[in-house]
Amino acid sequence: MFAILVLHGPNLNLLGEREPSIYGTLTLQQINEALRDQAARSGVKLEIEQSNHEGVLIDLIQDHRKTVQAILINPGAFTHYSYALRDALAAVALPVAEVHLSDIHKRESFRRTSVIADVCLAQISGQGLNSYLQGLQLLVDYLEKKR
Ligand code: DQA
Repeated sequence: MFAILVLHGPNLNLLGEREPSIYGTLTLQQINEALRDQAARSGVKLEIEQSNHEGVLIDLIQDHRKTVQAILINPGAFTHYSYALRDALAAVALPVAEVHLSDIHKRESFRRTSVIADVCLAQISGQGLNSYLQGLQLLVDYLEKKR
């Protein structure tokens, strides 16, 4: 059975109350439940973590590098400037899907840059919960094809 690490970056713990006109009204727990349902249907195990801290996210990536086969990540604002997070993802050399609830290409100009995107298989943005579900599906399809 494949295992996938799901990482939520800073401020995503506040989903539901955080700028709902941009990020929607679902809580992080509801997003995680939807991911777990889809994973169960695909026969995949998820390890789900959230942190507001860059170093903690990097530690989680390193710590899971031998126990998961792929990473689904919403890096939050770290997307736009964290070379350290990017290097961690490149270092572990696992397939990664970068996801965003909002459309980062249609907001402030600083959000249009992702320093993470080119170490990822795909970037999926602007579809709320569906960004996560599509990212998960993409990773499952990739792992099954490679098996
Ligand atoms: C986000 C977009 C980022 O620009 C922002 O900093 C977030 C959330 C999204 O899911 O739309 O924290 O990654």
